[in-house]
Amino acid sequence: MGSLTICDHPLIQHKLTHIRDKETNTKDFRELVDEVATLMAYEITRDIPLESVPVNTPVTEAVGKVISGRMLGLIPVLRAGLGMVDGMLKLIPAAKVGHIGLYRDPDTLIPAEYYVNLPADATQRMLIVIDPMLATGGSANAAIRTLKQRGCQQIKLMCLIAAPEGVAAVQKAHPDVDIFLAALDERLNEHGYIVPGLGDAGDRMYGTK
Ligand code: PRP
Ligand code: URA
Repeated sequence: MGSLTICDHPLIQHKLTHIRDKETNTKDFRELVDEVATLMAYEITRDIPLESVPVNTPVTEAVGKVISGRMLGLIPVLRAGLGMVDGMLKLIPAAKVGHIGLYRDPDTLIPAEYYVNLPADATQRMLIVIDPMLATGGSANAAIRTLKQRGCQQIKLMCLIAAPEGVAAVQKAHPDVDIFLAALDERLNEHGYIVPGLGDAGDRMYGTK
């Protein structure tokens, strides 16, 4: 079973509360999501392998550590996942970015895929699927399935908020995928929204509806 990590750093939790607040406007919402993504990038990259390299300091020769060959790819799920990309790229600027477009049918909650564009060398990279909301898990599972169908094997999932139902669905369908969250909420409501959640992430990020 993949690991489940709740990134409970006080800065993340503080900013997440403002993200949840229905009075937070679109500009602040976007900025806060960007900041939390940067802080979560620190946690999600914790296990990247290092290698030793020589370095000449002004004082002496020494041995330092640098990230070894492991290449990263960020895979935002459109639309809302886009809002977390720049924040992550601040810490991992060499990552390539692929896109998977999905929307949830509002009645059936079943995700429909409308766009896939991945880095040419995606199968060689450790990929981080990014989506702020993990509700039923349908969208995350579909995105991960799309990557696996194209031969990608090393995949992590990063979300702001999840419902227990979504976590269980991903763990069942993709037990090899580690999940990183800022918060695990109580439940889904009858419309498939996370409670307490933050509402519709895409609409709040882009000021639609
Ligand atoms: C939201 C969210 C996830 C999905 C989560 O996207 O960004 O992709 O719902 O729900 P699930 O776990 O039940 O699949 P939405 O379909 O609203 O599209 P948008 O990002 O374009 O607004
Ligand atoms: N998608 C969202 O944007 N919010 C939810 O609560 C559930 C799915």
